[in-house]
Amino acid sequence: MTTTTTTTLTDGATVPEKIEWLADRYFRLDRDDALIARLSRLFVTDAEGELTPRPKVDPLTGETRGLMLLGDSGAGKSALLKRTLRMLPMFGLVDREIDGNTLYVTVPPEATIKSLAARIAKQLGYIDMNPRAKGHEAWDVARHQMRKRGTSLLVIDETHHLLRKGSGRDVEGAIQTMKSLLQGDWPVATIVAGVDKLRDGVMTDPETDRRFPKFQLTRIAEDSKEAHTFRRSLQLCAEKVGLSLENETLPERVLFAEHGEPGRAINLAKSILVTSLEAGRTQVTLHDAYRTFAAAYGEMPTSPFADASWDALRTSLTDAGWSR
Ligand SMILES: Nc1ncnc2c1ncn2[C@@H]1O[C@H](COP(=O)(O)OP(=O)(O)O)[C@@H](O)[C@H]1O
Ligand SMILES: [Mg+2]
Repeated sequence: MTTTTTTTLTDGATVPEKIEWLADRYFRLDRDDALIARLSRLFVTDAEGELTPRPKVDPLTGETRGLMLLGDSGAGKSALLKRTLRMLPMFGLVDREIDGNTLYVTVPPEATIKSLAARIAKQLGYIDMNPRAKGHEAWDVARHQMRKRGTSLLVIDETHHLLRKGSGRDVEGAIQTMKSLLQGDWPVATIVAGVDKLRDGVMTDPETDRRFPKFQLTRIAEDSKEAHTFRRSLQLCAEKVGLSLENETLPERVLFAEHGEPGRAINLAKSILVTSLEAGRTQVTLHDAYRTFAAAYGEMPTSPFADASWDALRTSLTDAGWSR
């Protein structure tokens, strides 16, 4: 199902309005429900079966729980996390001025574990971190701020940046910090998201590793349930902007072209619709799909958008080891 977020589309919408509407479309896939199921392992469910923002705490150790969201760059980790948190009313994003129980922080490439503490503290309104503070002092401040602001869920996106090796970089300390967030006076439920390097790094510390169960975003396999969801979403989006698909195998071709990578496939699908709208079409043609694809990856002698039966084309592309 494709769900509307902020913009809505009226019957007489203009092409620019349709394009803006498309840009804002989120494709809900089966992984969305899988993430919610994972959240219910981190948070208490009330008597009505509703998720609460109260972290589950182990009565014997006082510890909360972690989750590691993994996927290649462009897999859709950030989109999935942000969308899910926005849709769940029990979680509200906090920033300096707005109260909320959820802190979403993105680790920049050059960050160290200490600079992450400063970033967290700052996002929670503490701007006077002493630049000479030691790492553990910076974390004391960050954790104090989380307690003060009532943070119960901490999401750390692009966490793999913390595990880059090099002089002055404390990879072990970073992994220890991930674990200690789940412990102490104010333990928070913590989601760390990143690429496979994150899993590899954390694996070196079994204590942290077992506290962060893995949720891997995989590619969309051909003919899978998610592939069908993708097909439906693409068809719905096309219909909404007044386009029909000239060739009903277009969704399968888009998935094949992008090797089943959801973020890339969704963006290619949207771009194809935009190309068609800009060309004033009422139908999405394979030719327009190819033009869009070639604009991103360059011209190629053969592509999944060639005018041929998809079954035969797919077999020949696969046999030839085709790759964009
Ligand atoms: N479910 C989705 N619906 C719409 N767009 C998506 C979806 N998942 C990913 N995208 C788009 O794909 C691109 C990559 O997604 P992103 O979440 O940034 O990947 P990651 O964080 O894994 O690197 C973004 O442009 C994003 O808007
Ligand atoms: Mg991301």
